[in-house]
Amino acid sequence: MDNEKKTAPQPERKKRILSCIQPSGIPTLGNYLGALKNWKTLGDEFDGAFAVADLHAITVRQEPAKLREQTLQVLALLLAIGLDPEKSILFIQSHVPAHAQLAWILNCYTQFGEMSRMTQFKDKSAAHADNVNVGLFSYPVLMAADILLYQADLVPVGADQKQHLEIARDIANRFNTLYSPTFTIPEPYIGKQGARVMSLQNPLKKMSKSDPNPKSFISVFDEPAVILKKIKSAVTDCDGKVFYGDGKDGINNLMGIYACCTGKTYDEIAAEFDGQGYGVFKTAVGEAVVEELRPVREQYAHLLNDKAYLKEVAAKGAERASRVADRTLQKVMKKVGFVLP
Ligand code: TYM
Repeated sequence: MDNEKKTAPQPERKKRILSCIQPSGIPTLGNYLGALKNWKTLGDEFDGAFAVADLHAITVRQEPAKLREQTLQVLALLLAIGLDPEKSILFIQSHVPAHAQLAWILNCYTQFGEMSRMTQFKDKSAAHADNVNVGLFSYPVLMAADILLYQADLVPVGADQKQHLEIARDIANRFNTLYSPTFTIPEPYIGKQGARVMSLQNPLKKMSKSDPNPKSFISVFDEPAVILKKIKSAVTDCDGKVFYGDGKDGINNLMGIYACCTGKTYDEIAAEFDGQGYGVFKTAVGEAVVEELRPVREQYAHLLNDKAYLKEVAAKGAERASRVADRTLQKVMKKVGFVLP
């Protein structure tokens, strides 16, 4: 009997997906196509844990009332894109203390030089020269803690987070080698299209929710008329031909957006708009984006009015997340030599 137990095949552990989004503004089409859309697809297939990263958001000064409001808005958005809170773990990062605890420990296993090389730190410290705080500097370590606490196999993100994923892998490998295998080494999941949606006003810059020019980004909650108008005024070139190529950054960006929303290839798009000019193409892109975001916007409007439900989802999510995260944290505390409480 005992023998049978030992040899019985173990059910294979489902892959764990983890990702987070900052509530530092209203999410954009870039966040949606680069990350959230993939969260939904992967969350249906694997064990998902998805968080609103409010601890990360305060590395840049936030207005408290606005931060609170945006945190619940982003949580509502996670539900609106179709993530199921019974299946995936949906939570608010600051509700799970293990994130800050593990981040502190991992800070002591990360080198100053490694953090100094992070391009996002360089960009953000230039943009917020009056507030280059230590949190902004060690931001990637907190991100590593987010990922490693859940033993995530796969982390769906946009291309801008690739360097942070690499450092999370380095930190995990270092800890595993110093002690013994503790953390799963996470793989980034970066979609082929939509991984880098660019600003509509400057296609050499990433579309960002913190861009001061609202014409540069589409918010996932923008009304259809606003979306159409913003796409119409997107910066392109004077060549007038729709195809993907060098020096056509504005058109390349719109083609990427259209491809994500319709599933068409660049060749199919070029054939569809052959000889038609940018006006017709921009209208089609705008309409495709409106249709892509319509169900999200409708669901969201519904959910945001139900604050009690959102708080209930957050509370249940934090409880489930803590169960997983605390298990990893205990292991780490034991390995580094802390006396367990
Ligand atoms: P955040 O809040 O800036 O963005 C959330 C997700 O959206 C992706 N993204 C984009 N993708 C394509 N084109 C764009 N223009 C674009 N802008 C943003 C981001 O790559 C991201 O996947 N540090 C993270 C949040 C975070 C996190 C984590 C992510 C905290 N802890 C752990 C993964 C795992 C961030 O600032 O994302």
